[in-house]
Parts: sequence; structure tokens; C-alpha cells
Amino acid sequence: MNTITVNASRAYEVRIGSGLMDTAGKEVSSLFSAEKCVIVTDDNVDKLYAEAVKKSIADEGIEVFKYVFPHGESSKCAATYVDLINFLAESDLSRSDVIVALGGGVTGDLAGFAAATYLRGINLVQIPTTLLAMVDSSVGGKTAIDLPRGKNLCGAFYQPHLVLCDTDALKTLPADIFLDGCAEVIKYGCLGNAELLEHLEKQRLDFDVDYVISTCVSMKRDVVNGDEFDRGMRQLLNLGHTAGHVIEKLSNFGVSHGRAVAMGMAIISESAQNAGMCTKDTSDRIVELIKSFGFTLNHGYTKEEFLPRFVSDKKRTGSSITAVIPVSFGKSKLFKMTIEDFKQFILTGVETWK
Ligand SMILES: NC(=O)c1ccc[n+]([C@@H]2O[C@H](COP(=O)([O-])OP(=O)(O)OC[C@H]3O[C@@H](n4cnc5c(N)ncnc54)[C@H](O)[C@@H]3O)[C@@H](O)[C@H]2O)c1
Ligand SMILES: [Zn+2]
Repeated sequence: MNTITVNASRAYEVRIGSGLMDTAGKEVSSLFSAEKCVIVTDDNVDKLYAEAVKKSIADEGIEVFKYVFPHGESSKCAATYVDLINFLAESDLSRSDVIVALGGGVTGDLAGFAAATYLRGINLVQIPTTLLAMVDSSVGGKTAIDLPRGKNLCGAFYQPHLVLCDTDALKTLPADIFLDGCAEVIKYGCLGNAELLEHLEKQRLDFDVDYVISTCVSMKRDVVNGDEFDRGMRQLLNLGHTAGHVIEKLSNFGVSHGRAVAMGMAIISESAQNAGMCTKDTSDRIVELIKSFGFTLNHGYTKEEFLPRFVSDKKRTGSSITAVIPVSFGKSKLFKMTIEDFKQFILTGVETWK
């Protein structure tokens, strides 16, 4: 088991390894003097893991309640959120009690936002069960729900008190959901870790999960420690996401987030090469790696469809945009540019990967 300590506005530990769900009870009872616990989970994860986690916590003499919602992004909404905080209130949870978010990023974001706001903040343990949630969403304290106007528009920065990444959970993850998480893993390598990229080049989908998750979490820890509230370096984590978000929206979310990010990374690498910001070798190597995982990289949209959508990107500040651009194999940098310059810059990538 690996333990990584995050030193954000709250210090907490992220544990990575096999069999960690069974330790949830001991961990909870050693951290909090909780009398009650609510496990928040979706209907898929409920069937697979909720009983084991519930038993482990109940064995410590803590009363355990369970809130189960239908799986999928559409549950990350105001209606489920209100229903959930009402459930917390009806279960009579106090501030010294604890919420356990057991599931993927949808569960983590929803339960995290409920934990941030119920009684103005209650103890939160994240037990991520998807690769994406382990390497990305469970660490760093971003919590949110979606609004009809867009994703993640209502949320809070609220760090968890503990994160348990039980790698055994990945065994039941459907292949396409695992692949989505792989896009984020490749992203970490491209933004700052050539060694990770070399491991992925050698192992492809058969990578060492403990090493890879620990490496990604350490990188996220470093970024979050330096920029918890997303004003600077944390934007590095958006590599491939600016174009990726456009593809998600153009496809009406028919293209999954991970696949869209993979396409976005191919686009930005191509544009970087054309602008002389990285070599052709770097760009080719990144694209080869992404392809070797089985991602399709052609998005199918014209520049006329693509370019106007950059205006509505959430990460935009005024008339400028911070682009995350690969400069070598395993290193990316932030470049602030005007929207017009960015459109010019991204054009070649968008056209190459049409
Ligand atoms: N907070 C952040 O920093 C952050 C970062 C990235 C993404 N996100 C958010 O994360 C969400 C996406 O997360 P996700 O991809 O984990 O989606 P998800 O939570 O919907 O999980 C994907 C699917 O996998 C199923 N599942 C989960 N674990 C399983 C397991 N071990 N075995 C079998 N099935 C399992 C779920 O029931 C679901 O159907 C989005 O809402 C996104 O906005 C947040
Ligand atoms: Zn992402």
C-alpha cells in the first residue's frame, strides 16, 4: 500500500492498494468520533461494494445508512443533491458524523458537494471505484453538481478527510470506463512525467496500477498543494480538455469525456508541432501512445463547427485563454493567449484530426 499526503487547506492521506475497502471502518473510527455514517453510492456500485464497506464500518459500532441513486451523469443534478441533503438531515447526521462517497466521479462530486454544504461542512471520506476517480476526481477538493446550463456550474472547493483507492475495484470496471480513465493517466504523463509515459509505452493497457495511480495522485497532490483554488498551475490538469470539452458538447456528450480528452491531446500536440513549440518527434510519440491504448482520434467536425465553441469555455478569463501545450515528451507549459490567437493556433490540429 502507498500513502500520499496532500497538504491543501486540509491535510489528508490518500491510500492506494489492494483490499482497502475492508479497512474503511478502522480508518473511519481512527479519524473521527462518529456515531453515524451515510454511504453515498450509485446503483451499480451499490450491488458490488456497498455491503463490504457497510459491514466494515458497522463493525466499529457506527450506525450506517445508505443513500443509493441511479448511476450516470444525469444524477449529478440539483434534484438528487436536494434529495441527498434531506436524507442526511432525516438521518440526523451531525458534524462529527461522516459521509462516505463510494463510486466514480459522479458519486464523489455529488457526495462531496453535499458534504461541503450540509451543516456548512461535514467529515468526508472518498472511496473512488473508477480509474478516473482514483487518479483525478477524488483528490483535490473540487465538488460540484451540473445545472441545465452546463456541467459543474454549482460547487465548492472542499477537501476530503481521507481517500481510499482500493485497486481491486478496477477488476469489475467495464473496459470502456477503464479506457476513459486511461486518457487522464496519459494526460498526467504528458503534462509532467516522461517516466510515466515510458512505462505506458511499454505496458499499454497492462500497466502497473499501483505505480500509475500513485504517480498520478502524487502529481495531482503537487499541483493542488501549489494552487488549490485553480488560479495558476492547476490549469496544467486541463491538458487536452479545452478541445475535448468542445468535442463533448458538439457530440451532445455522445463522445465520452476520456475519449474527447484523448482527441483533445492529439489536437493540441499537432498544433504545438505546427507552431514550432514542440518537435514532430514529440507530437508523433504522444499520438502513437494515445492510439496504442485503442483511442480513435478523428473527431469528425469542421473548423466552422469547432472554432466558435471556444468562446464559451469555462476556463476562459475575459478575452484570453490559458492553453496547456506540450513542449517535449513528458512536459507541458501554460501559455496565456487571446481567444483569436488561440483559434489560429488550434486550427491546424483541429483540421488534421477532423
Ligand atoms: N472533482 C474533480 O476534480 C473531477 C475531475 C474529473 C472528473 N470529474 C467528474 O467525474 C465524473 C466522471 O466520473 P466517472 O467517469 O468515474 O463516472 P461515474 O461515476 O458515472 O462512473 C462511471 C460508471 O462506472 C460505474 N462504476 C463505478 N465504479 C465501478 C466499478 N468498480 N465496477 C463497475 N462499475 C463501476 C458507475 O456505476 C457508472 O455507471 C464527471 O461528472 C466529471 O465531471 C470531477
Ligand atoms: Zn478530465
